Amino acid sequence: MDSLMIEGGRSLQGEVEVSGAKNAVLPIMAATLLTEEPCLIRRAPQLRDVRFMGGILESLGAKVEFSGDSVSIHAGKIRGRGNYDLIRKMRGSVCILGPILSRMGEAEVALPGGCVIGTRPIDLHLKGMQALGASIQIQEGYVRVRADRLVGNQVFLGGRMGPTVLGTANLMMAATLAEGETIIDSAACEPEIVDLAKFLTAMGADITGAGSPTVTIRGVPALHGAEHEVIPDRIEAATFAIAAAATRGDVRINRMKCEHIRAIIDKLREANVQMSVEDDSLLVRGSESVCGTVDVTTQPFAGYPTDAQAQLMTLMTQADGISVITERIFEARFMHVSELLRLGADISIEGTTAIIKGGQTLSGAPVMASDLRASAALVIAGMVAEGQTLINRIYHLDRGYEKIDEKLEQLGGRVTRLHET
Ligand code: UD1
Repeated sequence: MDSLMIEGGRSLQGEVEVSGAKNAVLPIMAATLLTEEPCLIRRAPQLRDVRFMGGILESLGAKVEFSGDSVSIHAGKIRGRGNYDLIRKMRGSVCILGPILSRMGEAEVALPGGCVIGTRPIDLHLKGMQALGASIQIQEGYVRVRADRLVGNQVFLGGRMGPTVLGTANLMMAATLAEGETIIDSAACEPEIVDLAKFLTAMGADITGAGSPTVTIRGVPALHGAEHEVIPDRIEAATFAIAAAATRGDVRINRMKCEHIRAIIDKLREANVQMSVEDDSLLVRGSESVCGTVDVTTQPFAGYPTDAQAQLMTLMTQADGISVITERIFEARFMHVSELLRLGADISIEGTTAIIKGGQTLSGAPVMASDLRASAALVIAGMVAEGQTLINRIYHLDRGYEKIDEKLEQLGGRVTRLHET
């Protein structure tokens, strides 16, 4: 597995362009299974997870072609069973279940894997499909969903931890070809859900309310091919903003949507990070900022996202005082803490709350990347730390950040990818 060697202590400077959103493109790729006609997706980030999803669709019988940041998918004829090994490896692949069920009347997938950040059940996905009339069987690590016909229903999709993003995506897709009307209550409101609804609508689906807690889908007999440009990756944008603030650099982040990261911008402002906010770009003036502390609790959209929690924690190690970060979406999402401690951070954990004593000088050390966003937090920490930080197992990073080493280099960071021989 590749690793990253980071030479720390340099401020990031310059401009960077955000790629298409990983969490938007994955369900959109799955949605192409709903039609026999070809679809074209533009601004698809070139990421491991996106290639993986392409491989899964191919294993279901679709033709998938990548060309730069476009991917064309033609699911002319498909089968209901894909490559289990691929599906098991990527959590995002669970969203093929809804479209396959809807199109084929039967779907079987291996229970999904992904980042090790808690138990990550799929009970709500299954609850939604059951409400549309599907029967569910779970056996030896596989889940099999069947329905002779799907019929619209009203479904409350809120769980113990709030709404589910991919669960909402799955049910929306299953409902597009169901008979009658489906109403999803307590639906996820994330921008990726809005983007999926936009693509499904371009395919001929009848969806209203996406982006609000109540989404209504009126089933249609068939969907057709469509083209779509994926929204920018809000977590990538936030990661660069936090990296700029942490290294006290001045960075303009382009081709992004500030309205998608309002909660993050608000917290950075509260921490005295100087910024100029425009619609589609964000200028972070870290050189003018002395970072203060913030208390943050992760929440579903439009609250502070769990996917930007680890990165903020790194920033708070540099703040003047004590910050408190509470994780409310995933119970085991503090894997970055032990690695940040190795670099000299002062963080203690009480249940789902981390208490960060800022103002510590970090110094480089070998660390291990555990999940995607934890890896991003370590990259930022490595940029801040004195000396060299070797980040092992950057496999996770490559799942979710397009060319992160090149983009950081472009901003003046000293980042070298070491290939395993
Ligand atoms: C998506 C994102 C992930 C992000 C997460 C929360 C993708 C590919 N991944 O993951 O990056 O961190 O949203 O914003 O889009 N839950 C249940 N039962 C279920 C489903 C979820 O209890 O059936 C729980 C989860 O364990 C978690 C919470 O609900 O505690 C939210 O999870 P969910 O929104 O489903 O996350 P994902 O959609 O898997």
